[in-house]
Amino acid sequence: MTLNIQKIRNEFPALSRPVLFLDNPGGTQITRRSLDRIHDYLINKNANHGGAFETSRLSDNLVEEARQAAADFLNAERSDEIIFGPNMTSLTFNISRALAREFNRGDTIVVTRLDHDANISPWLLAAEDRGCRVWWVDFHPEDCTLDVEDFKNAMEENPRLVALGYASNAVGTINPVKELTALAHRAGALVYIDAVQYAPHGPIDVKDLDCDFLVCSAYKYFGPHEGVLYGRYDLLDRLRAYRVRPAPALPPGKFETGTGNFEHMAGALGALEYFEWIGKEFGSEFREITDDYIGRRRVFKQAMHAIRAYEFEISRTLLQELGDVNGLTLYGITDNRQLEQRVPTFSFTLQGWFPGELAGELDRQGIYTWNGNFYAVAVTERLGLEGNGGLLRSGAVHYNTLDEIRHFGDVLRKIAHKSVH
Ligand SMILES: Cc1ncc(COP(=O)(O)O)c(C=O)c1O
Repeated sequence: MTLNIQKIRNEFPALSRPVLFLDNPGGTQITRRSLDRIHDYLINKNANHGGAFETSRLSDNLVEEARQAAADFLNAERSDEIIFGPNMTSLTFNISRALAREFNRGDTIVVTRLDHDANISPWLLAAEDRGCRVWWVDFHPEDCTLDVEDFKNAMEENPRLVALGYASNAVGTINPVKELTALAHRAGALVYIDAVQYAPHGPIDVKDLDCDFLVCSAYKYFGPHEGVLYGRYDLLDRLRAYRVRPAPALPPGKFETGTGNFEHMAGALGALEYFEWIGKEFGSEFREITDDYIGRRRVFKQAMHAIRAYEFEISRTLLQELGDVNGLTLYGITDNRQLEQRVPTFSFTLQGWFPGELAGELDRQGIYTWNGNFYAVAVTERLGLEGNGGLLRSGAVHYNTLDEIRHFGDVLRKIAHKSVH
């Protein structure tokens, strides 16, 4: 065991509530460090940006600190490659409109059926506006892995843009994003990666991936509601932004429309300081495999490797528990030997129960889960579940204990038993 889970749980005030949070892919609980940062911002630094007075300077410094921390977390070259925004969806619509100005009639845009709709609809609408064709890359319904052959076929069309998910928020599959990015680049496409679901679970390195854009959302990794987008500087610089005239003409400001949610940028910094703490406290055994990085960047990588190692245990335990429930059909990767290819987001159906009813029954027993399509509507459609209430999703993160996972299994077994008898 790499992590001391009790010590970790003490970092989350909301975890004192006597319930089992398995709703994490919809939004995680917030760390104390994030809350402290937000509190401090609103009391000591609360001002608009660019003013000739102290609180405004303090606010601007804080935003730059948050930007640099995000750049270190994602291993971006420079802090002005980081754009803050209200959430991933808004950032993606914003960038998609700027990119679409450069698309031409007949160009191909590639999306995948495994993605959250926030990385599909912005591109469908951009394609519609510009008269582009859309190629939908399929996935294998048996294990919910992306159909790489189909992806390769799509590359034959020399697409302008490939929109790709890092990990599926519906079924947990991690895509081979580095390899797919290389294929897309060879075909001349730009690559836009949705890392919202992956970010709380493992290390991200935009330089190593060589992607053009990557986006995540701090509320999915223990911070407040704040979107974070990485874009390659030369691209951000070149693209024409939809902005008001007095706004900055250079990145990142040109893409940050209106007054920012500075207190949430402070909170997003707090979430990264939490990861820094994890790296220092529990990451020492990952020092060697992170020696490509220095300073805080290395500490972040150690933290995410430590988290990932513990989450493998969670996945193994969950697989065992869910495998023991009568009438349960699990979607996605179920082979213990393939855990490298998934995050601990497990979705299933249970015979005799609509997912919504099951989520209600679990709620009555103090267990929070999600049901439906989670906006990954292409996934539930492809699996033939969209008309039947979709899926029941249990999404663990590293603050969940193995005892909680076993308890979840016990409760499900009782519910399944009841539905048979
Ligand atoms: C994989 C994935 N992408 C995108 C989003 C949308 O993120 P946001 O709520 O920040 O717009 C979500 C939210 O559930 C998600 O899970």
